[in-house]
Amino acid sequence: MNITLGPQSFLNYENNYKKNTSFTSNYQVLNKRRPFCTYFFREDLQWHNFARYLNLRFKNADKVNIYNAACSDGTESYTLIMSLIKHLGSEKAKKFFPIKGFDLNQRQVNTAKSGEIPLLPGIYYLFDFFSIKLHTLFSDKKFLDYVTLKNGKKGVKFKDNIKNLVEFRRVNVLDELAKINKNEENSVFLCRNMWMYLKENEQEKLAKMLSEACGSNSIVVLGKYDLSASKAHSLLLKNRFEETYIDNVYEKMV
Ligand SMILES: C[S@@+](CC[C@H](N)C(=O)[O-])C[C@H]1O[C@@H](n2cnc3c(N)ncnc32)[C@H](O)[C@@H]1O
Repeated sequence: MNITLGPQSFLNYENNYKKNTSFTSNYQVLNKRRPFCTYFFREDLQWHNFARYLNLRFKNADKVNIYNAACSDGTESYTLIMSLIKHLGSEKAKKFFPIKGFDLNQRQVNTAKSGEIPLLPGIYYLFDFFSIKLHTLFSDKKFLDYVTLKNGKKGVKFKDNIKNLVEFRRVNVLDELAKINKNEENSVFLCRNMWMYLKENEQEKLAKMLSEACGSNSIVVLGKYDLSASKAHSLLLKNRFEETYIDNVYEKMV
């Protein structure tokens, strides 16, 4: 039984960017090229270290609010749920749930809500359970604790007890952040591989809104493409964030 994780799609994605010389910040253009590319345990975050980091960072908090902006088909939220449960155990992980996932694309949100995620060869990943093991330290059996295989292994369905740990909605990240309380303490904003969809003034707005939303002990997490293809990094620094010792994780200085 094999699942190969994303690098193939990652390369496709990268190649598409290279071809698109006028690439700046255009949802339509990007959507046409490689619409909602995401995959389990996307390697631009060290998920297992990240879970341990969250455990330490929030050890004194009773509740932690996790927002998964641009969650696509939910893969990212489910990855975090599995990582937290694996490293903290179900009981200790409870305070991080429910995760709030949102995305602009209705179809992706519907998929996320259903918990039934298609694994499309050459788009998200090929099937290769060996690689799941290699990349994520999850054994076949561990992964199958959380999902059942569907459609001749062309998809997975998350079990209800996992699905219930996340709420998905269709919403624009800029609208959602405008509604979130200011200075929310103990919050985590995953805003990964999505900044390049925003125009420059929208990126500036997003960084400012994140800064306003983050109270004490709050962090923002970026993805690889946000660093290479948007102004996210410099905008976060400009808005009172600093890098932490975990790659792509920024904390708000209060
Ligand atoms: C490349 S995927 C990233 C998925 C996931 N965060 C990851 O890193 O694997 C980009 C997602 O951003 C979403 N998106 C783009 N602009 C958005 C916006 N303004 N508000 C919410 N979602 C947005 C797209 O619909 C798409 O699902």
